[in-house]
Amino acid sequence: MSPAVATRPISVRRATAADLETVVALRLALLREECQSPGYGRVRPGVARRARQLYRAQLESPAEVTLLAEQDDNAQGILRCAESSGHPLLEPDHYAYVSSVYVVPAARRSGVVRALLDQAFQWCRDRNLVEMRLHNAADSAVANAVWDALGFNVVEHLRVRRVPDGVQHQSRERESGAGAAAGRRMDPAHAAAGVQHMGR
Ligand SMILES: CC(C)(COP(=O)(O)OP(=O)(O)OC[C@H]1O[C@@H](n2cnc3c(N)ncnc32)[C@H](O)[C@@H]1OP(=O)(O)O)[C@@H](O)C(=O)NCCC(=O)NCCS
Repeated sequence: MSPAVATRPISVRRATAADLETVVALRLALLREECQSPGYGRVRPGVARRARQLYRAQLESPAEVTLLAEQDDNAQGILRCAESSGHPLLEPDHYAYVSSVYVVPAARRSGVVRALLDQAFQWCRDRNLVEMRLHNAADSAVANAVWDALGFNVVEHLRVRRVPDGVQHQSRERESGAGAAAGRRMDPAHAAAGVQHMGR
């Protein structure tokens, strides 16, 4: 990174519906970067259209925030934080689920994610949320190093396997609807088990 970039102040603000194209660009860039990962690599057809629909609904949802980090009005990074239900029998009953964390390559290692996380902490405090959770690709050395450095401890592993002879049906449109996207952060079975969907 050039010293000029490093010395410019980073500001963080809540994204609005007016930022939709910026949000789509940053989050699709994250998907593209993670396309080698077994957990995140199978991008569905029509991803840009689906992304617009999904992200618009998320930007309008009162239960979550998408934060943008900017330098000189240029978006450098993004982080999304959504209030999510915990296991019905365990504390905390709600927590903040962090997802969609991405910093443009030229701005990395200059504290952008730290700045985004500071704002996310404030959002959590304002909502009386005392815990944050997230998933990261197990094979990403950088993501593992970053979340270790930022105080996120590994408490479980997400294990994935293919169903023998399972057949992949065409992507179902009902799953791509904006309402489904905004309202169904967890299906009931996941909610009961306290398991959160991966949320790129
Ligand atoms: C992961 C990512 C978001 C980090 O963003 P960033 O703005 O560069 O992170 P920061 O500069 O705020 O770094 C915070 C701390 O994380 C650690 N860290 C950051 N990048 C690191 C790297 N490449 N290697 C090792 N540790 C790293 C450091 O401890 C750093 O603190 P320090 O600079 O004071 O030493 C960015 O590299 C990225 O967008 N990567 C691709 C997408 C991705 O992996 N997203 C995470 C999905 S879970």
